[in-house]
Amino acid sequence: MADYTAPVPVPGKNMGKADARIEGREKVTGATQYASDFPVSNPAFAYLVTSAIANGKIRGFDLKAAKAMPGVVEIFTHENAPKREDAGFFAEGGYVTTGFDPLGSAEVKFAGQIIGVVVAETYEVARDAAHRIVVDYAPGDPSASLESRGTETVDAAKVAKGWKDKTAGDFDKAWDSAEVKIEAGYTTPTQHHNPIELFTTTAVWHGDELTIYEPSQFVWGLKNGVAKQLDVDPAKVTVIAPFVGGAFGSKGMMTPRTGIIAAVARAIHRPVKFVATRTQGFTVSTYRAETRHAIKLGADKSGKLTALSHDGWELTSRTDDYKVGGTEATTQMYAIPNVTSKVHIVRADRSTPGFMRSPPEVPYMFALECAIDEMAEKCGIDPVEFRQINDTMKSPVSGDRFTSRHLVECFDAASEAFGWSKRNPKVGSMRNGDWLVGYGCASTCYPANTMPATARVRLSPDGHARVQIAAHDVGTGATTIMGQVVAEAFDIPLSQVNVEMGDSRLPPGPVAGGSMTTASAGSAVKAACDKVIAKFGNRLPTGDALAAAFKKMNTGVVEEYAEWAPPKTSGGVAKLYEGHMAGGSDSPTPILAYAYGAEFVEVHIHSRTKEIRVPRITGAFAGGRIMNPRTARSQLMGGLIWGVSSALHEATEIDEKRARYVNDNIAEYLIPVNADIRSVEVILVPEVDDQVPMGAKGLGELGNVGTNAAVANAVYHATGQRIRELPITIDKLIA
Ligand code: MOS
Repeated sequence: MADYTAPVPVPGKNMGKADARIEGREKVTGATQYASDFPVSNPAFAYLVTSAIANGKIRGFDLKAAKAMPGVVEIFTHENAPKREDAGFFAEGGYVTTGFDPLGSAEVKFAGQIIGVVVAETYEVARDAAHRIVVDYAPGDPSASLESRGTETVDAAKVAKGWKDKTAGDFDKAWDSAEVKIEAGYTTPTQHHNPIELFTTTAVWHGDELTIYEPSQFVWGLKNGVAKQLDVDPAKVTVIAPFVGGAFGSKGMMTPRTGIIAAVARAIHRPVKFVATRTQGFTVSTYRAETRHAIKLGADKSGKLTALSHDGWELTSRTDDYKVGGTEATTQMYAIPNVTSKVHIVRADRSTPGFMRSPPEVPYMFALECAIDEMAEKCGIDPVEFRQINDTMKSPVSGDRFTSRHLVECFDAASEAFGWSKRNPKVGSMRNGDWLVGYGCASTCYPANTMPATARVRLSPDGHARVQIAAHDVGTGATTIMGQVVAEAFDIPLSQVNVEMGDSRLPPGPVAGGSMTTASAGSAVKAACDKVIAKFGNRLPTGDALAAAFKKMNTGVVEEYAEWAPPKTSGGVAKLYEGHMAGGSDSPTPILAYAYGAEFVEVHIHSRTKEIRVPRITGAFAGGRIMNPRTARSQLMGGLIWGVSSALHEATEIDEKRARYVNDNIAEYLIPVNADIRSVEVILVPEVDDQVPMGAKGLGELGNVGTNAAVANAVYHATGQRIRELPITIDKLIA
């Protein structure tokens, strides 16, 4: 068998070449220009004033000391903020992460809300002046989190557009007659994106034309959203972000800062540069909502699951009903005929949450995969075997067949590589000196999402090609993948393909979210290539014959534009041009397609100090065609590492009284470092699926799901302690 785990994996069946990243050298040598690196002429620098209270009103500002500082250009508050139109909450058909305008009135809805902008000749002056502003607040009594007083709980099905709770069969009856039952609650905390590249916006006006430099996972969404807010023709707005230094969902939808900075630049007749501080990043962008789960699992004595009830509670703001909604995944994961589920949204005095890598699956699959482990144990069945017993090739909710599903094969491959057979199932039985040893596993899944895309491809007589698409490489390898699609179609070396992305002057591509770039953007690029090849009578010559063919056609280059949309997409490409995420997860999925995987971890827990270590992780994944085993491996490895982070490290701590974040910096917001991560093994299980576009299911988020549960299950195996609340920290093991 090929060694898929090597840094440059040997491609297996149905896998593309393991090419290195096209832009890799540029990135590691520092040659790449990120959005805020672009030079603009005579910029002013903006610094945000953010609210110290979480709810209440602003009575007034004392701006005297700030205004007196030499170099201050202007100070904007709600009292004199340049007017902006409402571009709407994205989940309700708008563009923005929130429908609330933070600078629209004296109202304060969350701590860290933008309540002012200082513009100055230098960043330092703007910052200094901002800190000299005195704000007079009339504070309220905020609700910080899910268990806080004063929150308001509503059914997602009543308030979140398009959401339906999933049910099947007769849960109550099945639950009553179940021979083995598990009932447990699970908790996941607030988590914050901390991409290395901060949240930045640079706005430059030339007459009525606006150019925005901002790291974005969706430049066409940003372009249209800003145009709407500033009441200008979208054709006059350009968004440029060729490179993105990490995003994970936080740069997917437009945040309120963009329109504010662009409006400020228009008001002062000068380019404005803005870079949020690390701390401001915690409230100017979105975050992963904290969740609670109530799970009931019923099974018969042979280990066949008969009943599942999954209730989820998710935090949101007072202003927007953001829904995570992961029961779509958990209710379709196993062959459970009787299902009930409900998603509850809890409104508190916080900013609106949003996408964060593998948004619904990370918290929801944590709950399910822990409960499955508990149930397997109660049935006296090995957890790997238990998942195999309950495997299904169709959704128990809709009855639809999965286009392909190789979960069992993933468990076989990963358990063998991991050495699962060496596990003594008895809890607390494995030791290594002073350290308790635990083995745990969990499933992962992620839907094969798609949305419309367009692309332009040019072929020259010398066999060089150029592909243009406003898709995005947020560190995933998408640039290389798009190049490979062209290289394969034209049968030319990748080095002869020039890839242009991340710029709204290019044909619109999908949001770089939901793991859908490969399938969606790839399909548009492939369609454009096919149109080019069609110009040559569907037989593209190579080498000298290609040049001769161009001569015969009497043409300089051949260039074609193509559109692609998933079947049954409402509005399709037209909606994409308006900057909307039509298709993908917001339209009824025409096919039931998921990528799957199996993840195994070993934990060591010190018998006295309870220090937790994860010496190794093994994951096996089946995601359809693997376009590039090297970038695929990196994606999955990164996901697994983040999974360990989710299990052991990450949590944004919230001051219950003031509803403010306590560790809003990357010194105290814990993430794993190299010393925390030892061996990470990625196995790519060959899978052919000809029903999903490009034959590929997307891998960006798959590795990140389930790892937290695998760690929790391993912790239980080592210690006998079921920690149902993330992150699993030493204090919880000592308690
Ligand atoms: Mo990803 S959280 O869908 O950008």
